[in-house]
Amino acid sequence: MTDPDSVFTSKVLQSMRPPMVCTCVQVSRQALVKAIQDGDRSFEELQKHTGCATGCGCCESSVRRLLSDEMNRQVSPTDEKQGRLF
Ligand code: FES
Repeated sequence: MTDPDSVFTSKVLQSMRPPMVCTCVQVSRQALVKAIQDGDRSFEELQKHTGCATGCGCCESSVRRLLSDEMNRQVSPTDEKQGRLF
C-alpha cells in the first residue's frame, strides 16, 4: 500500500515545479511567457531564444498555442480600454 504522506509530498513538490511545455529541452511555460513579454513574436523566435521545440517537436502545437494566447492577452487590455469586443 502507498504511504498517503509520500503521495501528498510528491504532489506538493510537483505543483511547485514550473510546468514544462517542452520536456526535451526543459523549457517552462514561464520561460516562454517571459520571452514573449521580451519581444518574441513568432514560433521561430521562441525556438531561437529558448531552444523549445528543437528536440522531438511534440511540443510545437503547445508552444504555438501559448504564443497565440499570450499575444491575445497582451492586446486585450488596450482593446478593452477602447471599448472594442474583438
Ligand atoms: S517536447 Fe519539445 S522538442 Fe520534444
